Amino acid sequence: MFRFKDYYHNEVHLSFEEYPFSKNPKHVWVICRYGDQWLLTIHRDRGYEFPGGKVEEFESPDDAAVREVKEETGATVSKLTYIGQYKVLGKEKTIVKNIYYAEIGEIIPQTDYLETKGPILFDSLPSDIGRNRKFSFIMKDEVLVKSLMKVTAEYI
Ligand code: GTP
Repeated sequence: MFRFKDYYHNEVHLSFEEYPFSKNPKHVWVICRYGDQWLLTIHRDRGYEFPGGKVEEFESPDDAAVREVKEETGATVSKLTYIGQYKVLGKEKTIVKNIYYAEIGEIIPQTDYLETKGPILFDSLPSDIGRNRKFSFIMKDEVLVKSLMKVTAEYI
């Protein structure tokens, strides 16, 4: 288990074990690969980030992951793999998120991407994400670094 602080100095616990913090997490985050590119979404307030969001009532986290990728990028997931979980101990509340790796089948242009401006593709992710104001705060802690290490070592 890894422990560190996020961009806002909240405590984060990260683990690549099988559902270490919750069997029913209410949030999901999906590291998406389209061919040899990374697929992110442009969040209207936060900036560039891998897609994700909240699990709806009566929905499984896996289904939420597929739905959020579609809503925020127009992409269909051809293969979804659970890779880990993290817990953010925020000032108001604690949240638990499943982390997935998704292979994308196709990207279908949408008329509306809800709270995002749709997809953005990267051949490689910049090395200055931590200081880059175009990127979301959720991309600025060790969750991204450690998850990408796992994904590139095991799935790419
Ligand atoms: P509602 O008001 O219920 O819609 O929720 P919210 O807008 O407060 O946001 P949410 O429940 O998604 O998250 C609560 C807090 O957790 C946020 O304000 C963030 O500080 C933090 N948080 C959410 N997702 C992440 C994440 O992926 N990484 C980090 N570090 N913090 C996160």
